[in-house]
Amino acid sequence: MKITVNRADSNDFLVEERSDMGLISYIKEEIQVIRERDPAIRSNLEVFLYPSFKAILSYRAAHKLFLKKHYFLARWVSQRAVRKTGIEIHPGAVIGKGLFIDHGSGVIIGETAELGDNVTLYQGVTLGGTGKEKGKRHPTLEDNVMVSAGAKVLGSFTIGKNSKIGAGSVVLKEVPPNCTVVGVPGRIVKMGDERIPRMDMDHVHLPDPISNDIRELQADNLRMHKRLSEIERKMKCMQEDDIDILD
Ligand SMILES: CC(C)(COP(=O)(O)OP(=O)(O)OC[C@H]1O[C@@H](n2cnc3c(N)ncnc32)[C@H](O)[C@@H]1OP(=O)(O)O)[C@@H](O)C(=O)NCCC(=O)NCCS
Repeated sequence: MKITVNRADSNDFLVEERSDMGLISYIKEEIQVIRERDPAIRSNLEVFLYPSFKAILSYRAAHKLFLKKHYFLARWVSQRAVRKTGIEIHPGAVIGKGLFIDHGSGVIIGETAELGDNVTLYQGVTLGGTGKEKGKRHPTLEDNVMVSAGAKVLGSFTIGKNSKIGAGSVVLKEVPPNCTVVGVPGRIVKMGDERIPRMDMDHVHLPDPISNDIRELQADNLRMHKRLSEIERKMKCMQEDDIDILD
């Protein structure tokens, strides 16, 4: 079903609503998703303890309210979930099947973010805006994207399917499918299974203007020292030869 969402800032855009799902099928799907992606789980019952489970359940309810334009109620449901789980999913975000948020604490998914199927997010991930855009301000993550712990993806661009964002990265522009992105700002280090040459990936040995200046001063000093020694030597020779140095 296609639905046009009238956003608070009056920038309408089309979102595709995923098939509605009953509670039982949702729980079954969550058990499968968490068992597939978290080796730490021991029994199906533990699923109910996962913040991801509670947050996504609340999001589904809040999103339905949002689509019916009950904006206050939608935010109320979502903010209750934030207090319980530390995961803030704006009710306006569009999320596919099989989302898994591991650990959860400090995860933020912005209003105009769109997530495909089987996306994995770790703790501390922000899918946010830069503050400079209007309308669609948050990223789109295609199917099977993984965003590692503490990574920030900021802006209204797309992360292509199967791509991985490394822990602690800050991604500010489009990423094609099947890539690995790391660093601040995020750079593609792998495309498909091919490693991308490092080139300007060196964030450790950055140019240091102060030590460059000091090195230049040291070289100048050395040159002057040599020149003075040379002059001294010549003067000594001239004195020995009894030549008037003033001539
Ligand atoms: C990005 C990541 C998913 C690895 O993806 P990958 O496609 O297998 O990439 P590789 O391990 O081959 O790494 C590719 C390059 O990026 C570097 N790299 C990987 N992760 C990085 C990171 N987070 N920051 C900076 N550089 C990183 C690697 O050192 C390697 O560099 P090299 O080519 O000079 O050797 C992984 O490193 C990562 O960040 N995992 C974090 C998962 C997480 O959040 N866990 C929390 C659990 S609680």
